[in-house]
Formats: sequence, C-alpha cells, structure tokens
Amino acid sequence: MQMKLKLTVAAAIAAVAGMAAAQETVVKIGHVGPVSGAQAHYGKDNENGVRMAIEEINAAGTTIGGKKIKFEIQAEDDAADPKQGTAAAQKLCDAKVAGVVGHLNSGTTIPASKVYNDCGIPHVTGAATNPNLTKPGYKTTYRIIANDNALGAGLAFYAADALKLKKVAIIDDRTAYGQGVAEVFKKTAQQKGLTIVDEQFTTDKATDFMAILTAIKAKGPDAIFYGGMDPQAGPMLRQMEQLGMANVKYFGGDGICTSEIAKLAAGAKTLANVVCAEGGASLAKMPGGTAWKAKYDKKYPGQFQVYSPYTYDATFLLVDAMKRANSTDPKVYTPELIKSNFKGVTTTIQFEPNGELKNPAITLYVYKDGKKTALN
Ligand code: ALA
Repeated sequence: MQMKLKLTVAAAIAAVAGMAAAQETVVKIGHVGPVSGAQAHYGKDNENGVRMAIEEINAAGTTIGGKKIKFEIQAEDDAADPKQGTAAAQKLCDAKVAGVVGHLNSGTTIPASKVYNDCGIPHVTGAATNPNLTKPGYKTTYRIIANDNALGAGLAFYAADALKLKKVAIIDDRTAYGQGVAEVFKKTAQQKGLTIVDEQFTTDKATDFMAILTAIKAKGPDAIFYGGMDPQAGPMLRQMEQLGMANVKYFGGDGICTSEIAKLAAGAKTLANVVCAEGGASLAKMPGGTAWKAKYDKKYPGQFQVYSPYTYDATFLLVDAMKRANSTDPKVYTPELIKSNFKGVTTTIQFEPNGELKNPAITLYVYKDGKKTALN
C-alpha cells in the first residue's frame, strides 16, 4: 500500500514537472566563434559568456508575449575560418534561432553579417573589431565594443606621445582584422611623425617568423606593431628574444591582448615589451566588472581571455530587446535593438544609427611579471 502511494506521488510530481516543461517555449540563441583550432581559447571564453548569461536569464524566469520562455544556446564552431563562418551562420538561420552572439573574428563576422541580414536574424558581436563590419548598414548587425579605428589610433598615439618612439616596423597576418588594425596604426603613426621602417606579412596559421624578424631587425626599429592573434604573437615574442631583439617594443590590438599570450610566450622576457589595446574599460573599471569576473572564474576557472563580459552582455541585450518588443520573433524585435539603453556589465549600451556602440572606451595594457595589467 505504502509502495503504491509512493509511486502515485512520484507519478504526480512527474506529471506536474512535465506540464511546466510543456508550458515553456524554447527560444534558441546562437553563438559562433572558434572553439577548435589555435584560437579555441578565445572562442570558448566567448561561448562561456553566453552560457552564463542564459543560465542566469532562465533562473530569473522570463515571460514574453504571455509565454514562459526557456532560452537555449545553439553553439557553433567556425574555427576562425571565413567559409566555416558563413556555413555556421546559415545553419543558425536554418535552425531559426532568435538571435546570434558573434562572431569573434572580423574575418568570419563580416561575411556572416550578410547571411544574417538575408535571413533577418540580428547578431551582436563583442569581439570583431574591423570598422568595415558596419559599413553595409545592415539593420541586423550590432557591435558592443570599440572598433579598430580606436584601437589602432590609440596605440599609435601612445607610441608617439608617451614612449616617444621614432621607428616602427609592421607585420600583419593578412586577415580582415590583422590587416585592418595594422593599416589604422600605420596611418596614425605616420601622421604623428613616426617612420615605418619595414612592413612584413604572415598568416594566421604560421609559427615560424625568423625570416621576417631577421629582415626587420636589420632596419633597427624601436617597435614592431603586429596585426593578428596570440597563436602567432606568442611564438613571435619567443623568436624576438632568440634574435636578441630584447629592447624592441611590441604593439598589437585586442587580438594579442589575452591571458593566453603569457603562456604562449613561454617565459620570453620580450613579453614585458608588449603594449596592447582592447575595446572597453578594464574589468576593474567596468560597472559590474569585478563581481562578474569572480562569478566567471568560479564557473570557468582559468578560461578567461578577453571578450566574455561582452558576449554575456550581448545575450542580455538581445533578451532586453525581445522583452521591450514583447516578442521573440526577430522580425518584430530587431527594430528595438537600435533603441537599446541597456546597463550591462561592460557599460551602458546605446547604439549609433549604424549599429556601432556609442562612446566606446579603450584600454591599453602591458604585461607586468607576466600578468596583464591596465595602463589607464
Ligand atoms: N578583434 C579581433 C577581430 O576582429 C578578434 O578579429
């Protein structure tokens, strides 16, 4: 008898739980970044930001259009490759996700932005920084971080005004990001009276830079600017040390401004020569940065890189627009995105008419005792 009663109670609980689940509408939010390959550490950090946001949003409970919504992530990998980027974007369009956070690289985000525009799904990037992303004027493209016009110029000003450097060599990896940020740096550096003594090129797959560094060394620069990511910058710093370029400063944008570069440089003293720029305020100066970082580190120990606070905010931003539109249908809520006035962890997010963040901040960093340290 007692056994039967227990079973009945269990069945009743299961039925109630099933009813609650049935009343929930599942809404998918896509994320795309490189979660395989040499840039996987950036992609995982970004994906973690979205996962953390979705968990918190679901725990708080959201009702939109009279329905209880359960958000789910659909996470895709583009391996930092433009072709895989558009394929992932198409997959998310076909899956009818409500919105997308991503991508991470400008080289994948720019071609993917057309796919999202064609299928009418908005995407918010907190990492892709090439200014060309917002040039087509798609109503579905939003960026919540400073672009390379700010990063490249900020670094050139620092090289000229604070460090009084005269001669600089430039290397880029020929990606949309690397080439773009190097061009802005070069233009501003020249305007500030610096001489560009050499320009060399590599790829986002290379690990041996001895030939180009040897050519650059012969020109005697005060600094190298590198447009690219840390899987190249780390070994490059090691090889600079091997070539005796111990006094050459090393500049780069957000792509090299990671926690991982300290590991990839593998003890090279040239890490102390790095000056890098990142969009946004430092975590310590973000409105909710310190508390957020403690929460993140507890959940994803040792995985923090650069952009997860932005992908976290991007997820909340999409949901905020859905709530204001009272709809999770991208056609209905996308027009709300441009009107955002959202207090995030990173900043208060408002947009320019072209989808760029209003009043973006940038922060310069150096590596002190191997630790990334904000200069401003
Ligand atoms: N900011 C880097 C890019 O745009 C990650 O590719």
